[in-house]
Amino acid sequence: MPTRTRNAVVVGAQWGDEGKGRVVDLISEKFDIIARFQGGSNAGHTIMLKDKKFVLHHIPCGVLRKNKVSIIGNGMVVDLETLVEEIKNLKKSGFQITNRNLKISSLAHLILPYHKSLDIGREALKGSSAIGTTGRGIGPAYEDKIARQGIRIIDIAHKKTLKAKLQLVLKEKNKILNKVFNKPTFKIEKMISSLSKNYRYIKEFVSNTEEYLNNQTRKNKKILFEGAQGAMLDVDFGTYPFVTSSSTIAGGASVGTGVPFSSLGTVVGISKAYTTRVGHGPFPTEMFDNQGLLLREFGTEYGATTGRPRRCGWLDLIALKHSIQISGIDSLVLTKVDVLSMFETVKVCVGYQIKNKKITTFPLSLDDLGIVKPIYKEFDSWTLEEVVSSKKIPKNLNMFIKFIEKFLSTPISMISVGPERDQIVYL
Ligand code: IMP
Repeated sequence: MPTRTRNAVVVGAQWGDEGKGRVVDLISEKFDIIARFQGGSNAGHTIMLKDKKFVLHHIPCGVLRKNKVSIIGNGMVVDLETLVEEIKNLKKSGFQITNRNLKISSLAHLILPYHKSLDIGREALKGSSAIGTTGRGIGPAYEDKIARQGIRIIDIAHKKTLKAKLQLVLKEKNKILNKVFNKPTFKIEKMISSLSKNYRYIKEFVSNTEEYLNNQTRKNKKILFEGAQGAMLDVDFGTYPFVTSSSTIAGGASVGTGVPFSSLGTVVGISKAYTTRVGHGPFPTEMFDNQGLLLREFGTEYGATTGRPRRCGWLDLIALKHSIQISGIDSLVLTKVDVLSMFETVKVCVGYQIKNKKITTFPLSLDDLGIVKPIYKEFDSWTLEEVVSSKKIPKNLNMFIKFIEKFLSTPISMISVGPERDQIVYL
């Protein structure tokens, strides 16, 4: 597919945790600006640098490279307390964070303490029907944005407006927290004082990032749009309601940064060589046996934000096909290929059996998704030594890759064979 600009969007093609962080960290070398466009502190992008592990929640992974500008876009929801911590930690590790390399959109919405309390309260009330959220207040914060009662970063600078808005919204939130969830209420003074303190720390980074990005595009600077979570968690096209509350697909990059859709460029989708999911919701290829446990341990499949064990399963090409279509993915990066080397044979799902019928499209109804039986194609596996030492693609792995490319009509441009920056094979 022809590239419309020199920009690119990186999105998750599964249920999140595909390894977007490390791919962005790697390819950001070729870009000038890295912009996050949705989500918030629910994301945990992990990068290994010389044995040191960095987990970023708000700041794009490009921040770990010199001379790159990182953008926190208007489409994100920001937890100021966590963001300040994140900046402080990076500075402590020796990274220079200034208003030249970090810019925060003044239009981004805030995650406030009542959002977190409501998120946790609502999940508890739902009991066994809970979504399994990260408890970071993401849903309630986006809810307020759409309900036109969210507080944005720009509001903190205007004390009178901030107080008036908070007064209005707290009236409702405190009633709900107290009456529905039997939880403590919040005091406006304490909230304003905490917001003001944290705002003083981030003030220098806050600006009109939408204008900045468009100006830079005109100057031919290259922008990499960094997605969080994955297409299957998209609020419209994911396994609703077991999704996050933002547009995780490539289209979200335009709304979440103010850069026109025609300037987004090529779309790179990230997928593991198998599948994982945290939280509840359908997962047709989930493994409940010993192999699933092995995959979790060998792949260290534990959430970067919450530490929760991830559910593990085989690669689902039907779900991937859905993501590729919705995000317009031009090429795929297959991560954690090394992990599958512990098995003698590996499987990929090539269809679903539903009531004696074979289907090859992703069912939109959760009732259907809940009863589908995956149809697998099995491959002989490869050894770790073959992949890591020679950096050539072993025969069996090559067959695996070629099959996926053909099935999805999408090229695989890179595979990762370990967590370090150089453990990547370009195809
Ligand atoms: P929320 O985004 O905290 O509201 O969580 C909604 C759903 O998205 C839950 O199933 C979470 O486990 C999942 N989720 C949110 N962020 C991530 C992520 O960064 N990786 C994987 N799953 C995520």
